[in-house]
Amino acid sequence: MIDVVDLKKVYQMGLVEVGALKGVTIHIDKGEFVGIMGPSGSGKSTLLHQLGLLDTPSSGTIRLNSTEITRLSDEERTWYRLMHLGYVFQDYALVSELNVMENVAIPMIAQDRPIDECYEAAKSVLKEVGLLERKDHLVYELSGGEQQRVSIARALVNNPEIIFADEPCANLDTENSRVVLELFRSVNKDLGQTIVMVSHEPWHMEYFDRIIFIRDGVIDEERMRE
Ligand SMILES: Nc1ncnc2c1ncn2[C@@H]1O[C@H](COP(=O)(O)OP(=O)(O)O)[C@@H](O)[C@H]1O
Ligand SMILES: [Mg+2]
Repeated sequence: MIDVVDLKKVYQMGLVEVGALKGVTIHIDKGEFVGIMGPSGSGKSTLLHQLGLLDTPSSGTIRLNSTEITRLSDEERTWYRLMHLGYVFQDYALVSELNVMENVAIPMIAQDRPIDECYEAAKSVLKEVGLLERKDHLVYELSGGEQQRVSIARALVNNPEIIFADEPCANLDTENSRVVLELFRSVNKDLGQTIVMVSHEPWHMEYFDRIIFIRDGVIDEERMRE
């Protein structure tokens, strides 16, 4: 499903070049729940951004199913993200002026689908994450854990092939982190959803099928869950 070969990313900081990824080769199968772990600054977010078409690598290849995504034009990349991928961020990235249901519907509205269809799909995924009764609330009326579940519903709404999550529990306490991790786990098991999640919390490891450890921009180790 995801095939990455010799991926490199160099950031230019004035006169200084920062090698954030120094030749990463990984394979991720359909239906896997993979954790990307490593110390702060090791390149986790950079790797996720390249895989999720949120940034373009300096060299190397990324194939998602049969598509070589490094060859897509900007317009094709935007469309690919909308049609095939879902995202969950540390800060939820919800729109404060919109209610819960409208936030969840955004990826479908962006696809120009009929509005009724968008809201029906939003309600259906809100039910899956246990927040249907909050659909008319504004996001600030929800707790952090609930906001993150709304953002997971938004990631699910267009039936993505892959969900990318960058430290989704970083702003949550342990109890809410567990709720989010268990939600990912059940979405992975029940729907066969492929999920790639970045984390630096060792206790999250028990939720992943496989862990890819990254250090200084290279893969350090890969480990199946014990
Ligand atoms: N936009 C950027 N410009 C310059 N350097 C960056 C940029 N993004 C990340 N870096 C650098 O690349 C390295 C990896 O960063 P990052 O992928 O964010 O690490 P992590 O997510 O593991 O904490 C770090 O040294 C960081 O400072
Ligand atoms: Mg990061």
